[in-house]
Amino acid sequence: ELPSIFEGTVDLGIIGGTGLYNMDCLEPIALLPPMLTPWGTTSSPVTISQFVGTNSHFHVAFIARHGVSHEYPPTKVPFRANMAALKNLNCKAVLSFSAVGSLQPHIKPRDFVLPQQIIDRTKGIRHSSYFNDEGLVGHVGFGQPFSQKFAEYIYQFKDSITNPESEEPCHLHYDKDMTVVCMEGPQFSTRAESKMYRMFGGHVINMSVIPEAKLARECELPYQMICMSTDYDAWRDEAEPVTVETVIGNLTNNGRNANLLASKIIVTMAKEIPEFMHTGDGLHGSIKKSIST
Ligand code: ADE
Repeated sequence: ELPSIFEGTVDLGIIGGTGLYNMDCLEPIALLPPMLTPWGTTSSPVTISQFVGTNSHFHVAFIARHGVSHEYPPTKVPFRANMAALKNLNCKAVLSFSAVGSLQPHIKPRDFVLPQQIIDRTKGIRHSSYFNDEGLVGHVGFGQPFSQKFAEYIYQFKDSITNPESEEPCHLHYDKDMTVVCMEGPQFSTRAESKMYRMFGGHVINMSVIPEAKLARECELPYQMICMSTDYDAWRDEAEPVTVETVIGNLTNNGRNANLLASKIIVTMAKEIPEFMHTGDGLHGSIKKSIST
């Protein structure tokens, strides 16, 4: 019964990962059918939600990265269509969620991480640029793949994530060297690979941040991923076997915390749109400076 068209502009784009197919902190005002772009169709319908802020309405667009019933494996996600759709809706920043494995003892399952660096271990089989045609070459800077201003904005709400089942709190980890390794998958890593990623300096591992972060950069969109830890990956020699109950419990708790964190972020943004969304965190014009033909 929701309208299938939306004529306004969107402020914030959100991409949900495994275990996060919609956000109950959002009240939808429109449900756009999967959007057709020159790079294919978005992986899910696009849910538009509205928040009444101090001076105006704040709009959020939500896309489920793997589809509403998890039909796209990481290798086949239409990353370019998803990012192009958010850009086309006029989003000023993209907040992304992803389930990750932890490569560090202090990053416990159910903890969240705001990475600032990426190690790309995908196999080069994903469409990872909008500059794939001959005659137009573009090289954007990617030394700092995430928006530090956005990460700092999110970090102010670090106390909003909790673990109701244990005495231990959940942590939101953030510093400038926090690194997410992105592997091709769909199989998880071997123990030897997992240990190698630790030696590389990885903190968490997933299968989605590449090419999403690259495409956000080509769209000049401030981008930050919130990594939600579900497991310790394969590096621990004396690890107790993981149970399905544990993983499901972690995914459920992560979904709940993702909603708690997202609602804090959105409510605060709706009151006053942060500076980095006006300025693009220094990214405006970076394409213009990068193209040679
Ligand atoms: N996503 C969640 N856990 C993961 C792991 N251990 N490796 C890669 N991707 C993941």
